[in-house]
Amino acid sequence: GKAASTPAKAYAKVGIEREYSTSTPCFANDKPKHYGKKEGAPCRNVRVPEEYGFKPGMLPGFENVAREHGLKTYKDVYRFSLEHNDLFWESCAKMLNWKEPFHTVQDCDLKKGKVGWFLGGKLNVSENCLDRHVAEDPNKIALLWEKDEPGTVQISYGQLLEWTCKMANTLKQARVQKGDCVCVYLPTSPMAVASMLACARIGAIHTVVFAGFSSESLRDRIQNCKAKVVITANEMIRGGKSIPLKQLVDDAVKDCPTVKTVFVEQRTKKEGRYAKHDVALTDALDAASAECAPEVLDSEDPLFVLYTSGSTGKPKGVLHTQAGYLLYAALTQKVVFNLKPGEVFGCLADIGWITGHSYVVYAPLANGITTVLFESTPNYPSPSRYWSTVERLKINHLYISPTALRSLLRHGKSHVKNHDLSSLRTLGLVGEPVNHEAWEWYYDVIGQRRCPVVDTWWQTETGGISIAPLPGDSADPIYPGMAMRPFFGIEPVVKNSEAFADHGSDQAGVLYVARPWPGMLRGIYGDEERFVETYLSEKPGCYTTGDGCVETADGYFKITGRVDDVINVSGHRLGTAEVENAIDSHGKVAESAVVSFPHLVKGEGLAAFVVLTDDYEADEHLVKDLKGLIKHSIASYAIPEEIVIVPHLPKTRSGKIMRRLLKLIAQNKNEDFGDTSTLQDPDILKPIIDAWSKTT
Ligand code: PRX
Repeated sequence: GKAASTPAKAYAKVGIEREYSTSTPCFANDKPKHYGKKEGAPCRNVRVPEEYGFKPGMLPGFENVAREHGLKTYKDVYRFSLEHNDLFWESCAKMLNWKEPFHTVQDCDLKKGKVGWFLGGKLNVSENCLDRHVAEDPNKIALLWEKDEPGTVQISYGQLLEWTCKMANTLKQARVQKGDCVCVYLPTSPMAVASMLACARIGAIHTVVFAGFSSESLRDRIQNCKAKVVITANEMIRGGKSIPLKQLVDDAVKDCPTVKTVFVEQRTKKEGRYAKHDVALTDALDAASAECAPEVLDSEDPLFVLYTSGSTGKPKGVLHTQAGYLLYAALTQKVVFNLKPGEVFGCLADIGWITGHSYVVYAPLANGITTVLFESTPNYPSPSRYWSTVERLKINHLYISPTALRSLLRHGKSHVKNHDLSSLRTLGLVGEPVNHEAWEWYYDVIGQRRCPVVDTWWQTETGGISIAPLPGDSADPIYPGMAMRPFFGIEPVVKNSEAFADHGSDQAGVLYVARPWPGMLRGIYGDEERFVETYLSEKPGCYTTGDGCVETADGYFKITGRVDDVINVSGHRLGTAEVENAIDSHGKVAESAVVSFPHLVKGEGLAAFVVLTDDYEADEHLVKDLKGLIKHSIASYAIPEEIVIVPHLPKTRSGKIMRRLLKLIAQNKNEDFGDTSTLQDPDILKPIIDAWSKTT
């Protein structure tokens, strides 16, 4: 019956009630749906608006094929994209400018970790992002730089090309060659974009390190990718606070013998000390030629390495290559946001994350539209910052994280009221599961029920959006907080504890992708084995996402969060092991365990349970010291909400920490321990619970 086609049943199976037990009543628009008997409340679903409804014309290169085969709807094209995968991607690849055509669409064997797309093809990514648009209109605005102090700088495609070429020549001067790594440690700014594109122009590999990471994190990344050059600024200002970037670079490169040159942009007036390998960036750019012929590169030459957290202590360098990545980022943006020429795309993420790489830089520029570089924070100087930015820049598509949304929602509508948000067409979300309340606030208050909310699921590893409410056909529903439909060519499968589920079988389990796609990672930089081991061995032939999900009978997907030791704090990925390593490096700590608990704003908060060495009593400095250590070795966002000193950790007889129990304690669910028979000593829990209850 109809009830089976709603998500509630699948949720109920795995005991996920949270999503639907919200006290906020869901309400219906034109076609109410009932999400299960338990709440009985009619729940809203919105339609895909007519103008967004999928039409094959949204895939320019594919339009003729669609006509020939009589493909009209999302379902038609989706099925075709799987059945005729090569033809689908071959046609779509026409949206890029090729220097030489490819002879083989794909050569992949996921069992062996082999991923190759558009083989034999040659192109240059920076040329695709710049030159071809400059040829049409050099004055078209490429970047709207919204600086930390509210105010915007406009940069045209012509100017950006000039800066990119100057930067490329500057890198060449510093003996950077094709295949070398360049580390970019800059705030979201035109200089950062020019640096990334300059690398792409000469075939160097960029590694952007989020300019909120500590010097130790920076050092580890530089060492791992053996960067020859670092591009940074004297300092940066974010949310009104200064971060001494150059000083952090100095600390990091002390232990990085591969670094021969550090380029320093004078971002503020503050003077700094200069070492022998430091070069003032503006001087170097002034002296450089504004012309640089784009290097002709293979489809599978590396484009960038971006470090991200996994379940081990060290972040891994996710490798993306040229053609497949660019095509996938550009195409997904075009379709999911129903992009039109001349639009302003406001992805307000930092360029240090994959969202910034794909949807601040590469996709918008490949698509030739105007992209926003947002250097500030959602709450600076006030919680109306996003909305005043939307108004001033006339942003058409807003793309933000649920955490940002939740932090603004708390301040109420008053910050939104006085702003003209009529330019908005699409409201995007990315990075973590979104709760109903935030989703509805976005839809009602920000979008005035005009704009579809697209909750997009993807990962650093997937290169671009993989599951999203659009492209759907008009008259298709969008459920609050559901990522809904796979993008073309993406084949998600759900595995529950017994077997792979049949499609549309109303299942909850772990999410895999059953075939390669052009935007997927090509490996872990410098560690081929770890690639197969981490992503491709659990179910040979399938890519392991590490996420849990629900698939409804209608084939819609809801992502429920990580199933491994990765935690999502404020939309940032963090490994519990990373935080534990930092804590354990304190001389007085014997061992520690970090778990997450639901947090109203951040999505997940961290709780650290710490055991001290025998001869040490906790004093008031200890927790402060531990926080400092974590900030120093990772970043501020990794600092736990609660650090609790406990006499011991709960372990099994074989010595394994029972994190499940710590998670329950951190949620104050002391009644729900379930089976504790494997616990070494059942009395061990009481002092841990006592210690926890004192903190909360
Ligand atoms: O758990 C999923 C969550 O973010 C993880 C990927 O993090 P990262 O590589 O940093 O990339 C974030 C931006 C693409 C995923 O494994 N995630 C991302 N988007 C969603 C999500 N969880 C739920 N819903 C989403 N829309």
